[in-house]
Amino acid sequence: MKKAVLITGAAGGIGTALSNAYQNAGWFVIGTSRKTPENIDELNAFIACDLLMLASDDLARDEFVNAVLEVLYTNKAELHSLVNNAALQVLGGADDLTAKQFENSFAVNTLAPFRLTQAFLTNLETTKGSVVNIGTVHAQSTKKGFVAYATTKTAMHGLTRALAVDLGGRVRVNCLAPAATATPMLMAGFAGREQSFEKLAESHPIGRVANPAEVAKAAVFLSSNDASFITGSTLYCDGGVLSRLHDPE
Ligand SMILES: NC(=O)c1ccc[n+]([C@@H]2O[C@H](COP(=O)([O-])OP(=O)(O)OC[C@H]3O[C@@H](n4cnc5c(N)ncnc54)[C@H](OP(=O)(O)O)[C@@H]3O)[C@@H](O)[C@H]2O)c1
Repeated sequence: MKKAVLITGAAGGIGTALSNAYQNAGWFVIGTSRKTPENIDELNAFIACDLLMLASDDLARDEFVNAVLEVLYTNKAELHSLVNNAALQVLGGADDLTAKQFENSFAVNTLAPFRLTQAFLTNLETTKGSVVNIGTVHAQSTKKGFVAYATTKTAMHGLTRALAVDLGGRVRVNCLAPAATATPMLMAGFAGREQSFEKLAESHPIGRVANPAEVAKAAVFLSSNDASFITGSTLYCDGGVLSRLHDPE
């Protein structure tokens, strides 16, 4: 039987790197996102899904789960890992963030990962598999305007610990929390602002931001048997940025 991983947000910057890294490590990769990704040929299977719907609608969740089970059956694969990577990042703070934006952030960043874990619990338990939640440094240290993202990602970090305790030896649950990662979207945001990008890079003790590939390799490790005694942990892939004290100059 092939060893399969289900990756949400597989079309994104880190999702693409995750898909490549798991494939390179011999995994059968099932990717999902709302839009059909440009890298669809690089995935072993793709199933479209809106996590906003899946979070609240049992029918939408069951349809998606059945589609995944069919792919697994057809390809003689078993689910060994679920990577909750998709995220909604809405910018806004105390003055302007709406209740709907907050609810949607919670649905995509926290509730959908929980619902997917529940939906594939039997599969993951059978394979002694694991869940990897992609968190963020914003769960520890954030900045202005990130209220919904930081709060709901912090909840995801908490969900990781709560599920690890609740599931015990049945399914390992861990969190991988990157700092700024050089995805195409992040780099596009710094186009024409090279000095700002340099400052961002220098703010990390390691002297640069992360490459998507090095974040992805850490996820593959957490899914692997090499991490067999690791559960309820958050691995910060942050270039040391959270350890640094920023004194005013
Ligand atoms: N990039 C960074 O610097 C950084 C740093 C720390 C943590 N992270 C974390 O890393 C993960 C990936 O980030 P990224 O930078 O790769 O983001 P990205 O390029 O924006 O990708 C996000 C992915 O999530 C999917 N998605 C968003 N809303 C969805 C929904 N409602 N239903 C289904 N899929 C949805 C998107 O696809 P569709 O739009 O097609 O649905 C896309 O594939 C996130 O959890 C993020 O919090 C990123």
